Amino acid sequence: MSATTILSVHGRRVWDSRARPTVEVEVALAGGARGRAIAPAGASRGSGEAADLRDGGDAFGGYGVDRAVAAVNGEIAAALAGLDARDREGADRRLIGLDGTADKSRLGGNALVAASMAVAHAAAAAEGVPLWRHLAGDAEPVMPLPEIQIFGGGAHAARRVDIQDFMVVAVGASDYGEALDWTAEVYRAAGAIMAERGLLAGTADEGGFWPAFDGNGQALETLVEAIERAGLTPGGQVAISLDVAASEFGARDRYRLARDGKTLDTEGMCELLGGWIERFPIVSVEDPLAEDDLDGLAAFTRAYGARVQIVGDDALVSDAARVNRAAAAGACNAVLLKPNQAGTLTECGDALEAARAAGYGAIVSARSGETEDVTVVHLAVGWGAGQIKVGSIAHGERTAKWNEGLRIAETLPHGGRLPPRSAFPWGA
Ligand code: PGA
Ligand code: ZN
Repeated sequence: MSATTILSVHGRRVWDSRARPTVEVEVALAGGARGRAIAPAGASRGSGEAADLRDGGDAFGGYGVDRAVAAVNGEIAAALAGLDARDREGADRRLIGLDGTADKSRLGGNALVAASMAVAHAAAAAEGVPLWRHLAGDAEPVMPLPEIQIFGGGAHAARRVDIQDFMVVAVGASDYGEALDWTAEVYRAAGAIMAERGLLAGTADEGGFWPAFDGNGQALETLVEAIERAGLTPGGQVAISLDVAASEFGARDRYRLARDGKTLDTEGMCELLGGWIERFPIVSVEDPLAEDDLDGLAAFTRAYGARVQIVGDDALVSDAARVNRAAAAGACNAVLLKPNQAGTLTECGDALEAARAAGYGAIVSARSGETEDVTVVHLAVGWGAGQIKVGSIAHGERTAKWNEGLRIAETLPHGGRLPPRSAFPWGA
């Protein structure tokens, strides 16, 4: 038995930012090192994602995780005990085989991803380094460019606006800290404008403002105004990024925009979004069309992919095979990476490799249901993904991530240096 042999695996039930139970896993190694991680949870989920194991019934709206925690303390603990935590892929393959289902529904994607991440943290702790360094090896990483939510809509704000995330990207910021500074000023300005006009209805699931807008266009206009009021240049310094999350309100050739009072086919949807791209400083659009609309995604990418980042979330679900299929069809030019969509870090990392091979960009992302867990920040830095998305710059489960990024940046030789503008479609 070596110092990095897995001695014990313990699961417990903890809470997420929507007051729902979730799974925490703690891994202890023979040499005394420990690793801990918590599973997040999505609300606007792709149909191809790993499935969480939930208890159902009346308690906690059916979101209980007692069965998933029991799986950790039973089968998963037994399967991981005795493995070397440094062999993360071996441990992950053992978990995948143990579950045995295509969608991880037997033991639960929530149980598996927390275990997978906890093993990685334990291996890093045994080495005496932060997880990002453990993953990066000798490479000198740069910080990921943040995309940060200002307004929340869709499934995260009772569909008050159809579009799910109205975000900003500080494309002109000189480093990670400045990107956060600028975003915080935009967030504050947006809140002030909305309060003045009686448009503020609280905050949505990811900390962005819950807007009482008449339509999606008003959200875009207000966002540009907020960037200007913050003293920043729309487009030059701070640009707009949208997560349309189109699968939430439509399918191939049938998109129902409740706020704008219209139903559009795929072509109409492309025209609507294309019109916004022409009118507003939009540099990135996630899930512009539904996950079953690969032809539409390819057409949209042909039309705008040379200058706008087209991100696949629900369509690609952090899955290498889906990334390869999309690349063959010319659909999207970037992938969103959510470890719990895949179920293990190894599979999520495989999706990143597939994205790199296809020349796609990558954004490591948190979920709308989150906790204090900061693993995604370490993945974004350690894997050199280039971008990160964890919701807004308010609410503790979000600032936990942004603040971890500040701590990491301080330790890097180049500080918070971001990837060059030329690394992104908007800088081409
Ligand atoms: P989710 O949303 O975590 O609720 O799935 C985030 C996203 O769509 O990017
Ligand atoms: Zn999304």
